[in-house]
Amino acid sequence: MIDIVHNDNLRFLQGCGDGSFNLVYIDPPFNTGASRAHTRLRTVRDEQEGDRTGFGGRRYRTEAGTRTSYEDAFDDYLGFLEPRMVEARRVLAPDGSLFVHLDAREVHYVKVLLDRIFGRESFMNEIIWAYDYGGRSKRRWPAKHDSILWYARDPAHYTFNYEAIDRVPYMAPGLVGPEKAARGKTPTDVWWHTIVPTNSSERTGYPTQKPVGLLERIVRVHSRPGDRLLDFFAGSGTLGEAARRHGRACTLVDSNPAAVEIMRRRFAAPANTPPPTVQVGAAGRSATVAKGEPK
Ligand SMILES: C[S@@+](CC[C@H](N)C(=O)[O-])C[C@H]1O[C@@H](n2cnc3c(N)ncnc32)[C@H](O)[C@@H]1O
Repeated sequence: MIDIVHNDNLRFLQGCGDGSFNLVYIDPPFNTGASRAHTRLRTVRDEQEGDRTGFGGRRYRTEAGTRTSYEDAFDDYLGFLEPRMVEARRVLAPDGSLFVHLDAREVHYVKVLLDRIFGRESFMNEIIWAYDYGGRSKRRWPAKHDSILWYARDPAHYTFNYEAIDRVPYMAPGLVGPEKAARGKTPTDVWWHTIVPTNSSERTGYPTQKPVGLLERIVRVHSRPGDRLLDFFAGSGTLGEAARRHGRACTLVDSNPAAVEIMRRRFAAPANTPPPTVQVGAAGRSATVAKGEPK
C-alpha cells in the first residue's frame, strides 16, 4: 500500500510511533542555494510554425508545459536537518536502516551530524552513485556522483538480504573464466546507474527525480516483503515506486503541493515498466544505460 501525505515532515514524524518503519530513505534538498525547477517540454503538431519535420512530412514544434519547482537554499541547513534525523532514528524499527542521499556539498557535514545522532558504529557504508550524463567542466573534474549514507539502528542486527543483490559484469571477464564471467560479481559500494533518461516512461517531470533502479536495489536488499518503508522528502515518490514493485508498503511525505500532485498521478497509474536497457561492461564500466542516453 502506498500512502501519500501532504505535510511538513517534522510535524509528520512527531506524530509517528517509535519503531514504525523498517527502512527510511530520504533525498533532502541538497542546499544548492537556488530554486530547483523543471519545465516539461511537449512536442505539438504545427503545420504553420513547426520548426522540424517528422513522420509523414508533418511539421512539429516544442512548447513549454507544466513547471514544477521547490526551494533549495537554507541559512542553517544542519539546523533544519538535525531534528528530522533525530526523529528518523526514533521511528526506525530495531533492525531498521536509514539511507540519506546527498551530494558532495553537504555529505561530510551530514555524516558528522549522523555519527553524533546514531553513534559512529552505526555507520555502515557510504554508497557512491556514479552516473555519466550532461556537461563536463574544463576547469575542474566534472562532478558525476552522489553519496548515499547508510546507518543501521543497531549495527549488530539489521536487514541485509545478500541473496537479493543483483550482480554486475566483471571489469576483466577474461581473467575469471567463463562460469564466473557469466554469473557476474557482487557490486561494491560504487553503483553505476544512469540518471532518469529524458525520454523514458519513468520520467515524472519532477526536478531531481532519482532513478527507480537505484532504489529497487536498496528496497530488495534492506527490507523484506510486507515491510513498512518511509520517504519523508518524497518528491515524485520514487521510493514508493520501488516499494510497490517489490511488495512493500510505503509512506511518502512532501510539503510541496506539486510533488503531492505528481505522486497521486504516479500511483493512480499501474506500476511503471522500466525502459529497455543495454549493459555497458566492456571498458570497465558496469552500468545499465538506457538506450538513446546521451553520453
Ligand atoms: C530532492 S527532492 C526529492 C526527490 C525524490 N527523491 C524523487 O525521486 O523525486 C526533495 C523534496 O523534499 C521536499 N521537502 C523539502 N522540505 C520539506 C519539508 N520540510 N517537509 C516535507 N518535504 C520537504 C521538497 O518539496 C522536495 O520535493
